[in-house]
Amino acid sequence: MIVGIIGAMDEEIQLLKEKMDIKETKIISKMEFYIGSLENKNIVLVRCGIGKVNAAVCAQILIGQLGVTAVINTGVAGAIHEDLNVLDVVISTDVLQHDFDVTGFGYPIGEIPRMDTSIFTADDRLLQLGMKAADEVLTKNKVLKGRIVSGDIFVSNSDLKDKLWKLFIGFATEMEGAAIGHTCYVNGIPFVIIRAMSDKADGSAHSNFNEFVQKAAEHSKEIVRKILRDL
Ligand code: ADE
Repeated sequence: MIVGIIGAMDEEIQLLKEKMDIKETKIISKMEFYIGSLENKNIVLVRCGIGKVNAAVCAQILIGQLGVTAVINTGVAGAIHEDLNVLDVVISTDVLQHDFDVTGFGYPIGEIPRMDTSIFTADDRLLQLGMKAADEVLTKNKVLKGRIVSGDIFVSNSDLKDKLWKLFIGFATEMEGAAIGHTCYVNGIPFVIIRAMSDKADGSAHSNFNEFVQKAAEHSKEIVRKILRDL
């Protein structure tokens, strides 16, 4: 098994990079792939950049060129579920692209026309391992499993936040997870998304993000390390 670990930003992969044993670095499509091991498991760690296209390109390279057999996406997200606070964690049951809009043709928002699904289900074993890891690692913070909704939008207003809850029951929102889930789905590769909350996706999202991103990334990192140990 080779596990691909994707973070969108430096903050999200740096802590894992420091802990891993890097055997080789490959640059493909302007992304640096760190090939090696962590917790005695073969991994490829990469920063994909922000947004769905970067995430999909990255996941496809991991699967198609670097032979990964499972993908974990780690990082931060905006909290939507009312029980969530900053630094709490959501582990994906499934993911969808909330900004996929073909409503002009009568499709519901979020639905990808002419595909067999628009909702991509996370791997159950990775989800269970993630929940167990998060419960052990985070003693002071809540851990929920639920849907993560992604779009090329930093959600920072309450109207959109409320919509994402009402339309999709999205527990948290970010900008890559569903693109990674989609790419894994079409390739038949298991995935899970693990996100610590850096903000509440409302008017204060921007300042909260800057304040909490580092600590939230630490939470995600500890969970990923524990999952690798248990795999
Ligand atoms: N990542 C972290 N916070 C986010 C937010 N509020 N919207 C989108 N992506 C995020």
